[in-house]
Amino acid sequence: MARKKKGGGAAYRGDRFTKKAKAQGYTARSVYKLEEIDRKARLLKPGMCVVDLGCFPGSWTRYVSQRVGLKGHVVGVDLEEPQGIVGNFIVRSVYEVEPEELIEAIGGKADVVLSDMAQSTSGQKDLDHLRQIGLVERAHWLAQRVLKPGGSIVYKVFDGADANACIAMIKQDFESLKRYKPEAVRSVSREFFVAGMGFKGFSEEE
Ligand SMILES: C[S@@+](CC[C@H](N)C(=O)[O-])C[C@H]1O[C@@H](n2cnc3c(N)ncnc32)[C@H](O)[C@@H]1O
Repeated sequence: MARKKKGGGAAYRGDRFTKKAKAQGYTARSVYKLEEIDRKARLLKPGMCVVDLGCFPGSWTRYVSQRVGLKGHVVGVDLEEPQGIVGNFIVRSVYEVEPEELIEAIGGKADVVLSDMAQSTSGQKDLDHLRQIGLVERAHWLAQRVLKPGGSIVYKVFDGADANACIAMIKQDFESLKRYKPEAVRSVSREFFVAGMGFKGFSEEE
């Protein structure tokens, strides 16, 4: 009898993480993408202040809250409000959120800005890619204004024509930047993540 290949195939990987999320009480399997990046990049620490852009249905927010603990703080932004999760949420598009609002909500500048934002796809590959790059650029525009010097980012990106230029622009602001394709990302997906560490700071005059 043929043996099932361990970890082989998108469906198998999807099932494994979906089942694990359900068993651990997370609202989305995407929590394991962040968990892997956090483990490898040593991103989150107790007491940190974190902005979570595109936070619905809330699995990243819940994971981050556990990692930063009671002395830390998380503010989530999304078009929809996560249910059943205690948190500080701004329910609006990121294009309508100003940096000052985020700074006020977390009580100062942030140690980490996360973006797992993605729009519903239209079926037009190039248009979807451009829209998603637009979300990454907006996340970074906000991050430049709310991050503490030395802070970190993690953004979801979909590969495509404009991805490299966008990443090169982000990279200039950090001491180091790495790409991650966590195991929980379906192998057929164009999705990957960038993690930037050591924010160099930003001034409006630049
Ligand atoms: C993959 S889901 C995020 C999953 C979340 N990280 C979790 O683990 O529960 C992507 C989210 O991006 C949000 N999103 C898309 N466009 C947005 C925008 N313009 N402003 C805020 N959120 C947006 C969607 O509403 C959606 O909830």
